[in-house]
Amino acid sequence: MSQPEVSIGLIGHVDHGKTTLTEALSGKWADTHSEEMRRGITIRLGYADISTYKCSKCKGAKAYSTTAKCACGGKAEQLRTISFVDAPGHETLMATMLSGAAIIDGAILVIAANEPCPSPQTKEHMMALKVIGKENILVVQNKIDLIPKKEVIENYKQIKKFLKEHDIKAPVIPISAQKQINIDALVEAIEKNIPTPKRDTKSDPRMYIARSFDIN
Ligand code: GTP
Ligand code: MG
Repeated sequence: MSQPEVSIGLIGHVDHGKTTLTEALSGKWADTHSEEMRRGITIRLGYADISTYKCSKCKGAKAYSTTAKCACGGKAEQLRTISFVDAPGHETLMATMLSGAAIIDGAILVIAANEPCPSPQTKEHMMALKVIGKENILVVQNKIDLIPKKEVIENYKQIKKFLKEHDIKAPVIPISAQKQINIDALVEAIEKNIPTPKRDTKSDPRMYIARSFDIN
């Protein structure tokens, strides 16, 4: 895998499926701290890298994947490598989410389809993104496997209304992170809506410390 060239945050209300989506995309479960495993919530910033690929033989979303082998059996061409920052959604961990938001180039706002939109942190995280000036936003409507299609559509309309009220023009991609439904469409939307920013390669590098680890 090449070095990541863009950082994308996963943000949103507690339990709406950010870490599950991180795993669906990368194969890695980012909640590794013992306290996270005990409580079943994300506490620290998690991270996972993926490479995205496009098959020249397939059309539309089907052409996009996170593996070099396309579902059609052909070989897909690598597009770029992305670093995901999995933020906590719990209301007491807003500061951690914000420190993650400071280092990302774009964000995926994860909203669960089986709850009325907006939930408190859906609202707060979106407002935080606006305040710190993040413009490359994508919205994921997750857990569509849990409710009937009619309710998914109702919830989709609620999300659209919420985005309109906040003057956000972002595509909404219905998925199930757990059942791996529509992940190809999400990869396509990431490629089309969250570009790699132009980097200043002349200046001295500047590193941000997002998380530290203790060694027992
Ligand atoms: P925090 O980081 O604590 O805010 O939670 P999170 O947004 O990372 O949620 P997480 O991925 O930990 O998922 C919470 C619960 O929802 C888990 O039990 C998941 O298995 C479940 N879940 C996540 N995505 C889906 C989905 O698409 N469908 C269904 N049925 N369950 C899901
Ligand atoms: Mg999580």
